[in-house]
Amino acid sequence: MTYQLPEEFLWGGATADFQFEGGFGEGGRGLLSHDYETAGSAEHPRHHTMEMPDGSIVRPRSSFFYADPVPPTARPVFLDGEYYPSHKAVDFYHHYKEDIALMAGMGFNVFRFSICWSRIFPTGEEEFPNEEGLQFYDRVIDEMAKYQMEPLITICHDEMPMNLALKYDGWSSRYLIDAYVKYCRVLFERYGDRCRYWLTFNEINAVRGFGPCGTRNSTGQDRYQAAHHMFVASAKAVKLGHEMMPDSQFGAMYAMSELYAVSCKPEDVFQRLQERRENWYFIDTMGRGYYPSYARDIWRRHGVKSVQMAKGDEVFLREGQLDFISFSYYRSNTTQAGDDWFNVGGSSNPYLKETPWGWAIDPLGLRHVMNEIYDRIQKPLFIVENGIGAVDQANEEGYVADDYRIEYLKNHLRAMADAVNIDGVVCLGYTMWGPIDLISLSTGEMKKRYGFIYVDMDDKGRGSFKRIPKKSYQWMKEIIASNGGAL
Ligand code: BG6
Repeated sequence: MTYQLPEEFLWGGATADFQFEGGFGEGGRGLLSHDYETAGSAEHPRHHTMEMPDGSIVRPRSSFFYADPVPPTARPVFLDGEYYPSHKAVDFYHHYKEDIALMAGMGFNVFRFSICWSRIFPTGEEEFPNEEGLQFYDRVIDEMAKYQMEPLITICHDEMPMNLALKYDGWSSRYLIDAYVKYCRVLFERYGDRCRYWLTFNEINAVRGFGPCGTRNSTGQDRYQAAHHMFVASAKAVKLGHEMMPDSQFGAMYAMSELYAVSCKPEDVFQRLQERRENWYFIDTMGRGYYPSYARDIWRRHGVKSVQMAKGDEVFLREGQLDFISFSYYRSNTTQAGDDWFNVGGSSNPYLKETPWGWAIDPLGLRHVMNEIYDRIQKPLFIVENGIGAVDQANEEGYVADDYRIEYLKNHLRAMADAVNIDGVVCLGYTMWGPIDLISLSTGEMKKRYGFIYVDMDDKGRGSFKRIPKKSYQWMKEIIASNGGAL
């Protein structure tokens, strides 16, 4: 059986603005919810820096936003001596021409990037968008066009203008729907002639584990109410996008790990079904256009009294269904009866090796996940994140011989090709996470690297920012040139 993929298959990479772009305070960019997040490590989680009215400092632990509840009186502050990675990130803002040329050199025909909401609407509430912010993405998209590289745009990657987080408590408020749709309309008007593929939200199902972006105190009630607001916002954006750009195709991105019951004990296997539904809840609602029948059971489990829905919301959900299902896949997890419902980790799997960050490496799990989603939703898939976070050792010239990355990618790409060629799954494309090294979302480190291209920069943002192709760069170039055949 060949690993060759259909001719129109899209190959590329994926990034997020606050992990990649930098350009803090430039071009009229407003403050973003991630700007107050410090760097961290696997042992010392990153945190936000906030000041109480009496001048004392609180440091809520953060993952996507506040993982610890934050007192309503706390205001964000920047502190001397703290390092905030989103400010410079790896400086795509000033390196975009070079970065796009390097990606084109590998043969990418798609590049997934996210638009920084506060670059377009600095507070989220202006009447008119920030022209300088719009021009930056014009330049990026036009540069990509020189190499026939399709944009795949993430409209909202776990972020929002800081003002919306503080003033409205993020997605807890229904007001966010209007702010988001206004922002989408501007993007569609401006870039719709050059962009076909859009993702309304990144990892929207993370709301259940980490809490909704911008929300200070997230109980189960807050999380599922916020998720409803995001569902409606996404559906309205899809409907509007289809009206304004007839050729457009929309997805939303889900964090998908494979999940195994630790044993064949019926209670463990049933737990697996229920845990899985915690994710299906998001994919089913947005992919099929209505809440699934098991939604009530999920709400009950999370102590949700009722999800407030406005008249007409169900019509939007139906009319704003996604065109394709996109997801990230890095690892698999395990579960057993009695596990915590908010637990997104799981015990380790004796059959699998792990990355230095404890993520189980499981290529067959990718094929399984692709089949499960496709069987269920019957819409094309798009793998928009995959890869291995590793500590790369560069030699004196900055060259990294990353055979472990080649091994990881080869096995995952083979599993993907098997899902397509043997199982009949329809998959539009594959964008590897962080093709150029960038900042880790979960830890804020630089040393957790994913790229084909090394960036000379350390955990504190020190370095020349020089870009140097790794061994995997040439390897991936050959895989893309053969459309998977060389796998
Ligand atoms: C995905 C996110 O969950 O995982 C990315 O969409 C993130 O933003 C990626 O970077 C990998 O996670 P991490 O923590 O290794 O950066």
